[in-house]
Amino acid sequence: MKILVTGGMGYIGSHTVIELINRGNEVIIADNLSNSKKSVLDIVEAITGKRPEFYEIDVADKAELEVIFKAHAIDAAIHFAGLKAVGESVSMPLEYYKNNIMSTIALLECMKAYGCKAFIFSSSATVYGDPAVLPITEDFPLSATNPYGATKLMIERILTDFQYANKDFSVTLLRYFNPIGAHPSGLIGEDPNGIPNNLVPLVIKAAKGERVLSVYGRDYSTPDGTGVRDYIHVCDLADGHIGALKNADKPGVYIYNLGTGNGFSVLEIINAFEQVNKVKVPYVFAERRPGDIAACYADCGKAEREIGFRASRGIEEMCRDAWNFAKSM
Ligand code: NAD
Ligand code: UD1
Repeated sequence: MKILVTGGMGYIGSHTVIELINRGNEVIIADNLSNSKKSVLDIVEAITGKRPEFYEIDVADKAELEVIFKAHAIDAAIHFAGLKAVGESVSMPLEYYKNNIMSTIALLECMKAYGCKAFIFSSSATVYGDPAVLPITEDFPLSATNPYGATKLMIERILTDFQYANKDFSVTLLRYFNPIGAHPSGLIGEDPNGIPNNLVPLVIKAAKGERVLSVYGRDYSTPDGTGVRDYIHVCDLADGHIGALKNADKPGVYIYNLGTGNGFSVLEIINAFEQVNKVKVPYVFAERRPGDIAACYADCGKAEREIGFRASRGIEEMCRDAWNFAKSM
């Protein structure tokens, strides 16, 4: 298939691009490099032997996007492009709404105009808010507690409404849990601009001796009192998109959780990281982080039944690959 990958230079996008190329698809990337680097193309080429065509554009700019649709008969679009930092979204709500919503609308308008009928969207487990019970299934109630989460919910709604009005269209909403890890080559991984907020990039900084990790909260109602999340290897997540392409020629709206179905606490992550990589992760206990929930993990049965997706990489592999990439940086 010929697939447009917006945000394909970013963390999850680049790993998915590699998997798409490895499976014989032709990939076209649209990215404005606001949170990624052009050197990703060299790495993708080194790993796959193929250099995807790259357009450095703002996906929210419909005229720029249209150039791609004019030049290529695109079969499906995978829409990763977006701003994703929760804290930043609270202080810069307009930038988040504008970037995330407008890029989606511009993409939909181009797809409709040029007859491209399959849309795969990077949603997030954040749309479940603070779930009443676990594990989370796709029919749980949805809510948002910050502008970032609100954009995900809104885009899910826009895509669902668009599909209702365009019955031959296929929409797949992928709700990612906590992606971590890196490509096993060690050549590519998570390389955030600025100070990271997520646990594993901060574990890495602590292991490198750059800072001490703060463990946010030790009094949650979890087995060891620290927060529990469903961490998924970014290469498994990439495989989930290959699965989602099975819906490309089936009109409708499909929603899947992409996680492993297992929850790990902050202390379990630190321990696994230390053991598998033979490094020390210095940490202190700190106050709970505002807005955090105690525990969150997925029921991934629907993705397995409908698109044959099942994560295969364990927590040790996630920690090993994350460090393998990070220590080369
Ligand atoms: P990332 O920042 O590494 O990648 C996003 C890419 O999109 C970047 O390369 C950035 O330059 C590009 N981009 C942003 N706005 C753009 C625009 N208007 N036009 C063109 N390019 C644009 O982030 P990621 O972790 O790879 O996340 C990808 C998607 O998955 C995002 O939509 C994010 O919200 C979603 N998601 C991520 C996580 C996570 O933990 N990483 C969890 C759930 C959902
Ligand atoms: C965050 C985002 C969420 C996004 C998800 C995946 C918030 C409030 N939510 O969720 O929208 O979908 O990432 O990208 O930011 N922790 C520490 N110390 C740290 C950092 C984190 O103890 O320095 C703990 C957290 O309290 C949590 C766990 O580690 O229990 C995971 O945190 P993080 O990686 O930020 O992900 P989420 O909180 O799940």
